[in-house]
Amino acid sequence: MSSQPIDPKKPDLEESTNVAEQHAEVTRASSAASREQQVRENGLEPVSVWVFITGSIIAVIAGSVLFSSNNLFAYNDFVKEGYIQAEDTTGPPPVPQGAVEAVYMAKGSATYKKCMGCHQPDGKGNVNYPPLAASEYVTESPVALLMAVVNGVKGPITAAGVSVNSQMDSQLNKSTDNLEMAALVYYLQNSFGNNVGKIYTPDQMQQFKDLNAKRATEGYTTEAELDEYRKIQVEGDFFEPGTVINKKTGEVIE
Ligand code: HEC
Repeated sequence: MSSQPIDPKKPDLEESTNVAEQHAEVTRASSAASREQQVRENGLEPVSVWVFITGSIIAVIAGSVLFSSNNLFAYNDFVKEGYIQAEDTTGPPPVPQGAVEAVYMAKGSATYKKCMGCHQPDGKGNVNYPPLAASEYVTESPVALLMAVVNGVKGPITAAGVSVNSQMDSQLNKSTDNLEMAALVYYLQNSFGNNVGKIYTPDQMQQFKDLNAKRATEGYTTEAELDEYRKIQVEGDFFEPGTVINKKTGEVIE
């Protein structure tokens, strides 16, 4: 730096002293000191470049290990056996489904609550109400069973050797959906010691509905009429055991 002209207003300064240069030096030193001070106050002292490099290398290696083994953090590896993963509520709602036997038993037993007061929880009836356990009107054909339940029964009737002469009003609407009918039939045919085992499809229940629409009378069935319906079997394909169906619609889920 070249020597500055001496300010005539500051005559006490020596000529050999470069005031501007000296002053600049003082400023640099003090501002450096104050930067240092500030850094220390923050607790953010400069870190050695090697610490930074080593840390970066570790991070890259660790990251690539985690990403390359994509089941390292898979949910299933970390969940205890017997625990069920919460349903994913973000996608479309899951289809409620189950094995047809279980779905039918659950639905059928719900419908049976309407019958239980008379035919008893064990299906064995009593002196006033005929049994559904071992009843030929229950086990032989779903057509006879549904004819009785949908239209009611009147007059003397003998079921499983138990005779009554009474009346049952209609217990089920004739337009009840096919799934509920199939479930009730399956439940009654496979409870109380009954063991028919056939798994009717909802579609097969349409055959009952068609026959019911052709009935000459709208009123109660009688033993004689039910004895005719006992001989009529439902046609078409049954469900295979274990078939998974939609609980709401009865459709088969592949
Ligand atoms: C209010 C009492 C009562 C209710 C509720 C009732 N039943 Fe009956 N059920 C009877 C009586 C009484 C008879 C016999 C009618 C006769 O004497 O002609 C009968 C007869 C039957 C028969 C034919 C005879 C036999 O024992 O197999 C079937 C099948 C039947 N009921 C099924 C059902 C089903 C299924 C339900 C429920 C959806 C039901 N009943 C609800 C009183 C009832």
